[in-house]
This record gives sequence, structure tokens and C-alpha cells, in this order.
Amino acid sequence: MKKIIAVVNQSGGAGKTTLSQNIGYHLGLKNRVLLVDMDPQASLTAFMGLDKLKLEVEQNIYGAITDRVPIKVWNEPIHGVYFIPTNQELSSAELEIMRDMAVDNRMRLKIALEEIADQFDYAIIDCPPSLSLLSIMSLVAATHVVIPLETQYKCYKGTDDLFGTIARVKKSGHKNLEIACIVPNKYEGKNLHDKEILEEVTNLVQGKIHVTEPIPKSTAFANASKEHVPLALYKKSHPGVKMLQAISDYLEKL
Ligand SMILES: Nc1ncnc2c1ncn2[C@@H]1O[C@H](COP(=O)(O)OP(=O)(O)O)[C@@H](O)[C@H]1O
Ligand SMILES: [Mg+2]
Repeated sequence: MKKIIAVVNQSGGAGKTTLSQNIGYHLGLKNRVLLVDMDPQASLTAFMGLDKLKLEVEQNIYGAITDRVPIKVWNEPIHGVYFIPTNQELSSAELEIMRDMAVDNRMRLKIALEEIADQFDYAIIDCPPSLSLLSIMSLVAATHVVIPLETQYKCYKGTDDLFGTIARVKKSGHKNLEIACIVPNKYEGKNLHDKEILEEVTNLVQGKIHVTEPIPKSTAFANASKEHVPLALYKKSHPGVKMLQAISDYLEKL
């Protein structure tokens, strides 16, 4: 595996799932890509067109993380991308594994992914909207972090906690974990507020973290998810498609 990318932000609605699906698709055009749904809300599982209520324990990441079954990838790629879905059972995983002191719980996803690492070039992990153990596990498994960030004041304020958490993970034996980029999302250039937040974010991380071109706010994203396809397959001419391709190219070259 060349890179394992955790798409992280504790703020809900930032665009983690949308970005995971779309980056997965674009990277998947030329590479063997694995998407992993680490959010018990299972939005990515729904976006990919699977019914979380029909998943057996051996078909979702919960089984692998809790050591019940070996890690298993969905039997066929979806729009060229391999996938490990999830369901609400994952929300009980945290409590369950706390009882098992024989394993460093933060390592569970990393250990599970190592089993299948040679089958893929990239893995993309869609994280839950919290900085809970499931997100920490994802960061520990990752080589790179992508941070989607809604260009809203309240979301920007949360970045301190996020950077703090990433720094602590690095300090605790994962010093090679790199923040690949911040992806400003749901950007409305005509709003002064959005412009100011984008400027503040860019100034805050200047010279340290790459900030991509902002992805515009557009209902096409929600429509594409509803149709269970990446934006490129929903509307090829949408301006967001080139931006998502550019982000994937950037991640590939890192
Ligand atoms: N650029 C965008 N413009 C408009 N809506 C978006 C955009 N990106 C994502 N969305 C929508 O916002 C909602 C939250 O996005 P999602 O990717 O699920 O965020 P998260 O996974 O961080 O909670 C979804 O309905 C999604 O379709
Ligand atoms: Mg999500």
C-alpha cells in the first residue's frame, strides 16, 4: 500500500464522506483503491449503494476491528473502487474492545488493514464526526490525513482540537503521519464570510499545510450521493469534478 489516507474532521457535515467517495473514485481510475467506512452512521455505505441493514458481521469493518472475523472486502468493486462497509454495530465496538487489554486498541484498524495491504495501492478511511477512538484508530492506521473544512466560522474554530489530536497521535509513536491537505468545502465565494474564513485558514497554515482550491457549495453533491455515484458519474461537466481530480492527482504525487 502506497498511502493510507484518513479523511478526518470531528465536525459533521464537513464533507468527509463526500470527499472519501469522490477521491476514491478518481484515484481508482488508475489505482487499486480501498474505501473503508469507519463511521457507525454508515453514510459512505449508503452513498455506495449498500443497505447497512443487510450487512452480516463478517461483511463489515466492525467484525475485523473487534477480532470476530478476518477483514473482508466487499465481493465486487463499486465504480472501480473496493470497499469495506459498516453499520451501526460499529458504535458498540469502542465499548466492547475496551475490555480487551491484550491489544493496543488504537492499533486495531492498522493491524486489520495490514492483512490486505498488498492488494491495494491506496486506502481511504472515512472517519466519524468525532475525535473518538474510531477516529484515533483511523489516524494511527493512516500515513496521511485529509481535512475537509466547511468555510464557516464554527467549523474553523474546531480545527484547534483537530490539529491538537493529530499532533498527539504523531507524538505517541506515529511521527510519520502527515497532513496532506485541507480541502475547503461548501464554499460560497459571493459571501464575504466564506471568503474571510478561507483567508484565515490559509494564513493560519501557510507554509505548513497545503490548502486546495475550495469546492463550491452545490446541490449536485447531495444528488450524486442519492444516486449512489461519484460526482463525475452524476455530472461530468460539473466544475467540482476537475477540482476533485486535482486533489487526487495531488495526493498521488505526494
Ligand atoms: N460542496 C458541497 N456542496 C453542497 N453540499 C455538499 C457539498 N459537499 C457535501 N455536501 C453535502 O453535505 C452533506 C454532508 O456531507 P458529508 O460528506 O456527509 O459530510 P461528513 O461526512 O463530514 O459529515 C451531504 O448531504 C452532502 O451531500
Ligand atoms: Mg460522514
